[in-house]
Amino acid sequence: MPPAPDTALSSPETDDADTQTIVTSGIQPSGRLHLGNYFGAIRRHIALQKEAHEALYFIVNYHAMTTVQDPEALREHTLDVALDYLALGLDPDEATLFVQSDVPQVAELTWVFLNLLPTSRLEKGVAYKEKVAEGLTPNAGLFTYPVLQAADILAYDAPPAGAELRVPVGRDQRQNIEVARDVARRFNNTFCEKGAPLFPVPEAEILDDVATVPGLDGRKMSKSYDNTIGIFDEGDTLEEKVYSIVTDSAPLDEPKDPEADNVFALIKLFAPDEKREEIAEQYRAGGYGYGHAKDALLGMIEAHFAKARQRRKELVEREDYVRDVLREGAKKARERAEALMAKVRKRVGLVTSA
Ligand code: TRP
Repeated sequence: MPPAPDTALSSPETDDADTQTIVTSGIQPSGRLHLGNYFGAIRRHIALQKEAHEALYFIVNYHAMTTVQDPEALREHTLDVALDYLALGLDPDEATLFVQSDVPQVAELTWVFLNLLPTSRLEKGVAYKEKVAEGLTPNAGLFTYPVLQAADILAYDAPPAGAELRVPVGRDQRQNIEVARDVARRFNNTFCEKGAPLFPVPEAEILDDVATVPGLDGRKMSKSYDNTIGIFDEGDTLEEKVYSIVTDSAPLDEPKDPEADNVFALIKLFAPDEKREEIAEQYRAGGYGYGHAKDALLGMIEAHFAKARQRRKELVEREDYVRDVLREGAKKARERAEALMAKVRKRVGLVTSA
């Protein structure tokens, strides 16, 4: 199947030809993906499959277990993410897509890493602290979540000398990447000869500068605010959502400030420069209402995702193909993780009689 053409804007990379970049990133299987996810990470993930020497993307169902205890929902959401990514242009020949739990070596590596971190290091975790502040008792999975994430990042064998291990993530993930950097150094210090580290120290590539996507109510678009527009919403659902975007109540003929408007903030994400300027002019000139802006936005969303939507429908009918992609991806990832784990076991003194 040919990769879906996507208009993903890839920011030109200036990597010098000798620096190989290996990209890893995890995707939460937490229900249908929305425009915030798309402009925040998905678009960049898809662009990186070509830019990077190698890209590994995994659907983090082990991580999801820290909050989801509904097997049916977990299964469904896992497959949904795979469908969404493939429909949006992830090309299995360019990037390796797999389900985290298909690589159990990651859980094994997590155990090794857990023993290198003082609990005080994890008590500073934002997600953990938030739960405690809310008066909830976080489970041990949530407490150790960043360590599992470190294993995700570091499991796929050391890249060749001089290569860079890059992790494209939202700003909220910075702290978790710090834990991964810390763990990599601690392992190297504890178990490796000086000058011969096993793990590279990963680098975060923080993505949300690209776009802060407003939700229907003007706050950041987020599933937890229930203010999202789904990438694959269509028909009445999509229309209702677009027409419910909150605006001020300036009358039609009044000149408006595009930069102060949520609808325009979304239009900006879709419209090429020229079109964007044209609409901004119309806002400022007056006689252009929020209804007009919403019509324009609706058209842009529909045009932008038309192919992806069509393709998703086709993929739903070809579940075998989707499962094949995930199986192949997992096989490749497992081989690499096993090669790495063999080295890790040796370094830490885990005797194997297998
Ligand atoms: N914690 C990340 C999130 O919430 C998901 C994630 C899991 C991840 N493992 C990862 C991201 C490894 C980057 C690398 O979005």
